[in-house]
Amino acid sequence: MPMVSMTVNGEVVSGEVETRTLLVDFLRHTLGLTGTHVGCDTSQCGACVIHMNGVAVKSCSVLTVMAEGAEILTIEGLSGNGPGDALHPMQEAFREHHGLQCGFCTPGMVMTALDLVARDPDPDEAAIRRGLEGNICRCTGYHNIVKAVREGASRLREAGRAAAQ
Ligand code: FES
Ligand code: FES
Repeated sequence: MPMVSMTVNGEVVSGEVETRTLLVDFLRHTLGLTGTHVGCDTSQCGACVIHMNGVAVKSCSVLTVMAEGAEILTIEGLSGNGPGDALHPMQEAFREHHGLQCGFCTPGMVMTALDLVARDPDPDEAAIRRGLEGNICRCTGYHNIVKAVREGASRLREAGRAAAQ
């Protein structure tokens, strides 16, 4: 079995995997990072979205061996890096705007939203709805998710401005 090595949430990890092992299974079963969810068998739901080399990908559609040497960021890598283990501003916005009910889709929504705002720091509602097309939520009707992403984007712009001062 091939050996793979990658950086996950800032830590170098390695392990033997079968060539058919999906990245989502490596993250969940080998590394125990169960915040990345599996919600479908068809690459449609987006519950498994992570960042690979800074870009959102559906980790159920990536073989682990394809991530050799990659920088991986999962939902677990977002919070806890600041004072008082604070949530990431996008997670905080989802919490405050009730952008979740059962929470199953939330990790993927947050990771997709962060990729979206990295490319478009001030997305309007239409851009957010377009950007989240690959993420399915069974609970919320999306309205509060869209509000949360707008607020998260605004907080990140503020944080960027503050950091630049
Ligand atoms: S589990 Fe990856 S898109 Fe549904
Ligand atoms: S909050 Fe339940 S699936 Fe989205």
